[in-house]
Amino acid sequence: MIIQKAVFPVAGLGTRFLPATKVIPKEMLPIVDKPIIQYATEEAINAGIKELIFVISKKKMSIRDHYSEAIELNAELLKKEKHVDQPQALGLGHAVLCARELVGNEPFAVVLPDDMIDDNSRGCLSQMVNLYQQYKTSIVAVENIDPLETDKYGIVSAEPIANSLHKIFDLVEKPSPKVSPSTMAVVGRYILTSSIFNLLENLEKGADGEIQLTDGIKKILEMETVMAYEFSGKRYDCGSKLGYLKANLNYALKDPDIRADLLTHIAKLKAS
Ligand code: G1P
Repeated sequence: MIIQKAVFPVAGLGTRFLPATKVIPKEMLPIVDKPIIQYATEEAINAGIKELIFVISKKKMSIRDHYSEAIELNAELLKKEKHVDQPQALGLGHAVLCARELVGNEPFAVVLPDDMIDDNSRGCLSQMVNLYQQYKTSIVAVENIDPLETDKYGIVSAEPIANSLHKIFDLVEKPSPKVSPSTMAVVGRYILTSSIFNLLENLEKGADGEIQLTDGIKKILEMETVMAYEFSGKRYDCGSKLGYLKANLNYALKDPDIRADLLTHIAKLKAS
């Protein structure tokens, strides 16, 4: 089977970006001149995804408007963009479960737009879709992180099986640095088999009192192989102020209209 659908869980409250996100969803904040969500959907389309599924809340209607009014997106795409409501913010696992009926019984991608990944090519999801064609298992993107930051991520224990590819034998959501099994952190790109849905449905609340996607993936391990893939590219955590600013700089410096002036400005700032 090929990966045709991607789920974008975008119902989160964006409390780390208040007051900017009081009215504007964090996914609609611009990186240079494009909202964060659009980088994520373009990455999915570049990976061959045909149907975009947004898990939104009532406060996120501007995301819906952005896609229904986006003349730059072609009409073919518009037919294939759907929304499902996540009535309460009960966690990432719960958000993915809300997309169950729209995904159906096929493998699918999950993209967390906060994690922007620039690989100077077709994108991280494209890399993962190619791997899926080869291995036909669930795959999560991972990155080695600062050992002091394990409590911000899902952390995997895994053994290498090929270049940049590992077989996962355990996962834990947001362990404290003292007890973390490794520094290999899950970042916001997943390819999952549809077995995840039954498992999510029966999960207890996990870390932070939420239904955690990580806990659902841990359950998949009892039945199926799950791979961890060290993607190529640079990730920006746009859920943090610094990450958001770095992403803006990265993409601004790629824009030929502003690159030279921006570099001059940065040099002046450094000298002052
Ligand atoms: C979520 C996941 C976590 C993952 C992270 C990647 O956490 O629960 O496992 O490592 O995304 O960005 P959140 O950032 O929503 O707290």
